[in-house]
Amino acid sequence: MTAGRGQVSSEVEHVTELVHTRADLARARAARTGTVAVVMTMGALHEGHQSLLREARSRADHVIVTIFVNPLQFGPNEDFDSYPRTLEDDLDVCRRAGADLVFAPSVAEMYPGGEPAVRVNPGPLGEDLEGLSRPGFFHGVLTVVLKLLQLTRADLTFFGEKDYQQLSLVRRMCRDLDVPVEVIGVPTVREPDGLARSSRNRYLSPAERTVALSLSRALRAGAEAASAGGDAAAVLTAAHVGFGAGEPGARLDYLVLTDPDLEPGPVRGPARLLVAAWVGGTRLIDNAPVRLDPAS
Ligand code: PAF
Repeated sequence: MTAGRGQVSSEVEHVTELVHTRADLARARAARTGTVAVVMTMGALHEGHQSLLREARSRADHVIVTIFVNPLQFGPNEDFDSYPRTLEDDLDVCRRAGADLVFAPSVAEMYPGGEPAVRVNPGPLGEDLEGLSRPGFFHGVLTVVLKLLQLTRADLTFFGEKDYQQLSLVRRMCRDLDVPVEVIGVPTVREPDGLARSSRNRYLSPAERTVALSLSRALRAGAEAASAGGDAAAVLTAAHVGFGAGEPGARLDYLVLTDPDLEPGPVRGPARLLVAAWVGGTRLIDNAPVRLDPAS
């Protein structure tokens, strides 16, 4: 389509600068004044990342995307080597979403001295839920997040609610360590049938994709029980029934109802239902807000 007089073609592609080194990032960052947002990713960008990018674009003058598969957050038997690496496709997504700068470093660029001896300790919450099944995972996540916040010097950072424990721990780290950034949570993007978008969904066979609906079904059933006035026990029972109600085969790791800040203690009023399960060789997580009667 040719733009008419006075019009700007909507098909003009955004110019997204790609840098691989911290020196080039520093130079590109120094050239930008105004509010800077960073969206951190491990690549394999999907609709969930696009919604983070849209939020970032609407709130900041400049949007930086980081693409880095962080070895520190993978256990010895996890999928670091096979994790999807799709830089060209990711750059297309970044261009279309209007990102200004993409930082895609190598492992040596991020960790020039080898694996860092000093890491961020996530505290007790880092040892629970995901941390129970994945020892050291949140040490690795928070260490790379802090490094990327230092390198990008962002004012705002956007994290998906899909990884709810990660979002909570990033918030806590920034508060506890006085990191000068606003952490913004963005709701989970779902497929029409309820499956939460995740880079790991591409590991699922068509049959496993159906089995994976156990997770969102559990969350829906729990939320419905809460809306019907159920207490914490009723919500959890309904969620377990929902988990098992469809195509069998998902192996539950945890299904818990917690305070929205994942603080220990009794759950009343606003709460969060979190689930993790294995579907074949793929570990999936999901969560949803629920509201309990404060008197229940
Ligand atoms: O959520 C992710 O993709 C990763 O944990 C993150 C935040 C990019 C850190 O490597």
